[in-house]
Amino acid sequence: MANLVVIGSQWGDEGKGKIVDILSRDADLVVRYQGGSNAGHTVVTRKGTYIFHLIPSGILSRGKLCVLGSGVVIDPGALIGELDQLQKHGIKVGKNFMISQRAHVIMPYHKAIDKAAEKAKGARRIGTTGKGIGPAYVDKMARIGIRIGDLLKPEIFRRKVEDNLVEINSFLRHMYKVRGFSADRIVEEYQHYAERLRPHVADDSLVLHKAMENGRRVLFEGAQGTHLDIDFGTYPFVTSSSSCAGGACIGTGVGPTKIDAVLGVTKAYTTRVGSGPFPTELSDAIGDGLQERGQEFGATTGRARRCGWLDIVVLRYAVRVNGCTSLAVTKLDVLDGSRQLKIAVGYRYQGKLYRDMPADLDILSKCEPVYEVMPAWTGSTSGVTTFKALPLEAKRYLGRIEELTGCPIDIVSTGSHREHTIILKNPMTYVRPRTKIPKVSA
Ligand code: GDP
Ligand code: IMO
Ligand code: MG
Repeated sequence: MANLVVIGSQWGDEGKGKIVDILSRDADLVVRYQGGSNAGHTVVTRKGTYIFHLIPSGILSRGKLCVLGSGVVIDPGALIGELDQLQKHGIKVGKNFMISQRAHVIMPYHKAIDKAAEKAKGARRIGTTGKGIGPAYVDKMARIGIRIGDLLKPEIFRRKVEDNLVEINSFLRHMYKVRGFSADRIVEEYQHYAERLRPHVADDSLVLHKAMENGRRVLFEGAQGTHLDIDFGTYPFVTSSSSCAGGACIGTGVGPTKIDAVLGVTKAYTTRVGSGPFPTELSDAIGDGLQERGQEFGATTGRARRCGWLDIVVLRYAVRVNGCTSLAVTKLDVLDGSRQLKIAVGYRYQGKLYRDMPADLDILSKCEPVYEVMPAWTGSTSGVTTFKALPLEAKRYLGRIEELTGCPIDIVSTGSHREHTIILKNPMTYVRPRTKIPKVSA
């Protein structure tokens, strides 16, 4: 029995949505703990394709309680739009969906500031999704944020909006030369949202605690990826939340001792959306091929994702900072038809070899990857559901990932469809024994 955190090991879009959907069957609760509608998690089923921005992917499995934790920033309009879409597809959302009263609300001015700040940065822009994520977390840290609990109390909500707008409208007009916002309009719009969301609002920490006490299994669904984490990512080209596994505790009010395992999801190659360093990026026909075969277009903004070879330095770092107990490797099928495969095992910068991720962005932007070349396979891995049926070279490629990261692979994904998955070991239903510390002789 395990409380499992699923995180992205790269720069997001690793296929977390698909993996969470599969693992949800063995979970009782599925919980998002950070980020907001900047995320885009895709689940492909026989009935259709679903893209989740806020709602945990577990909502497709019956009888699971899906939770938006305290660490999430919620755009109520976007959330209601998503709820409506699900209901149109016959997915029931009622008592199976809960929102933390401590989660912060994304306001229209957050989106306006996000867009205006990006425009003003010009070539130095981060390439945000424009969903207001950064400014919402800024307000949270500045202690002027508005929480879901406030949204439900009309007088408090109005006062906070009015207070905030004094500074924010002046900032928008003078700094960015854009129009300010009317408190009345915001209050009118948001009070409808409040009434719609009210039945779902509760105390996430308490609900999770009680569920765990009763032996329920909790699956934490990370958004974004390790290298987009505010502290451990390629700062400043990151998102504004703790997308690493530690964020699961901070963003839900659950203690670290309650987490049993961490599954790192990685593509069999690497992608990134938005600006920032990407050592193994391929600006050639091979990169274009990965983009085309992998359909690498952002699920939230539709932007083309940058593509490159698998980067073990990036992965080993993710295994370390998240304490990954196992990995899920997705999109193996996208490498079908490759002439040869490359894996970056280190970086070279000014004659020095780096085997660990440099914290210095300047080094990361200018380093040259050191590649290990591996033979590609000739057959197809598309839709393969057993490890045995994989071509030998594909097995060796996966084996090499395990060797180089020191982390076992539990799941291999060979297609976007739910069924196109090899489950070697289900991390929801086992807890890996702790590694014994080897005896040290004096
Ligand atoms: P997430 O943000 O980590 O949930 O990932 P996204 O949903 O943004 O992006 C992953 C994309 O890859 C989606 O379009 C998935 O349907 C697709 N996908 C996931 N696993 C596989 C796989 O094994 N093979 C292929 N070809 N596509 C996959
Ligand atoms: P999922 O959960 C990939 C990127 C943006 C930008 C940076 C900051 O689907 O993996 P933000 O709007 O968060 O302030 O943008 O982070 N980004 C993502 N990239 N997948 C995501 O989510 C992302 N969420 C944010 O492209 O570079
Ligand atoms: Mg995504």
